[in-house]
Amino acid sequence: MTRVLTQDRVRARLRDTVDPERGRIPMFVYSDPDVYELELQTVFRDAWLFVAHVSELPEAGSFVVRDMGEESVIVARGDDETVRVFLNSCRHRGMRLACEDFGTTNRWRCPYHGFTYGSKGEFLGTLIGAPYERIAYPGGLDRDALHLIEAKVGVHQGLVFATWAKEPEDLRGYLGDLAWYLDLVVGRAELEVVGVPQKWMVPTGWKLPSENFTADAYHTATAHSFTARLGLTKGVDFGRDGYHVDPGGGHGLGIGVHDEAEGSYFPPELADEYAARLDPDQLALLKRIKNTHGNVFPNLSFLIPNFIEIDGRRVTGMMLRLWQPCGPDKVQVWSWHLVEKNAPRWWKDLGRKMYTQTFGASGMFDQDDTENWEAQTRNANAALTRSEEVYLHYEMGLDIEPLKDFPGPGAVYDGKFSEAAGRSFYRTWLDHLSGAERA
Ligand code: FES
Ligand code: FE
Repeated sequence: MTRVLTQDRVRARLRDTVDPERGRIPMFVYSDPDVYELELQTVFRDAWLFVAHVSELPEAGSFVVRDMGEESVIVARGDDETVRVFLNSCRHRGMRLACEDFGTTNRWRCPYHGFTYGSKGEFLGTLIGAPYERIAYPGGLDRDALHLIEAKVGVHQGLVFATWAKEPEDLRGYLGDLAWYLDLVVGRAELEVVGVPQKWMVPTGWKLPSENFTADAYHTATAHSFTARLGLTKGVDFGRDGYHVDPGGGHGLGIGVHDEAEGSYFPPELADEYAARLDPDQLALLKRIKNTHGNVFPNLSFLIPNFIEIDGRRVTGMMLRLWQPCGPDKVQVWSWHLVEKNAPRWWKDLGRKMYTQTFGASGMFDQDDTENWEAQTRNANAALTRSEEVYLHYEMGLDIEPLKDFPGPGAVYDGKFSEAAGRSFYRTWLDHLSGAERA
């Protein structure tokens, strides 16, 4: 009863203070504990959440351990290549079944009392035995009732998502107009994850980094100006030219482009694979891309960093980021580096170098961003900003009309400086929290 009253109070406060359409967001939402609790009960229960890339599950019995909101889950591949997702919680007393980050197995044996669950074929997720079973449970155990709790799973272009929603919209519908762009970014070639994901903690709420990747190309000229000072880019305005895309659904992206006359920056060795997998409009856009950032609502970001020169060659990489909530003002960052499986050696080697220098736990860009998010969060936790008096300005591009002739779907704006998709992010977030029907 207390929880219901608290949720109603939080919903009313948000309804009264958050106004995405006018670009007014109160600062307390960044790290408010009551808001966070409601997010766990809504966004992280009913949205599609990224859990793995298919290349992390190479064979039957492969599994990785991930989180959905604050729930630990096992993402497992069965014999039939189907990926399934289970709550990583033994049905006996709730111990974590899989304590390692990843592996390949044909069963999970609970470390506490030894209940054992199948990890392959028809027994995937089923209780297959318990120690001293005939003595301890002479009447037998109800295998159906003790099956691991299972989430619904959807896969798009190798990205595995799961949801706890009872009757979710299918994943393709959830992605909506974003799918066209996602197909271009992660579907342009067969991608594979390089190594294991890096993980580190940042003292910020999950929304700040998510909205940054959704809609904030504007910070790059200031926060990341070191790239020009170190001679990695020609100037600081690499985040300006291109398109800002609001595909709806709280998703968003920015596509940086260069002059068509320069030709494609991507490796010519992969031209045939790109052409086979993309439609002509996507292919024409790929040939002009110099960077792309975006976010699948709520917390999966994707990134093609701005091309830079390493060892005399122009190179970029492909990254996925998960902003895993660990509290109202804490995220665990999960960072994956991916590469085209059929790419030439030079592209793979330089891409890895680029990743470790610029992004990831040791990356220069990440250190810039983290410092900002951490300080914003400390401000959001202070007394004045926890009140409703401090509003933030999300009005950039409010009066700008989208392009009429862009070949891709969604509302697409000329130039990357806009906060349209950021406003959309907060509209979708608010709808989840208030239990509203989402278009
Ligand atoms: Fe798993 Fe007891 S908690 S067997
Ligand atoms: Fe940044």
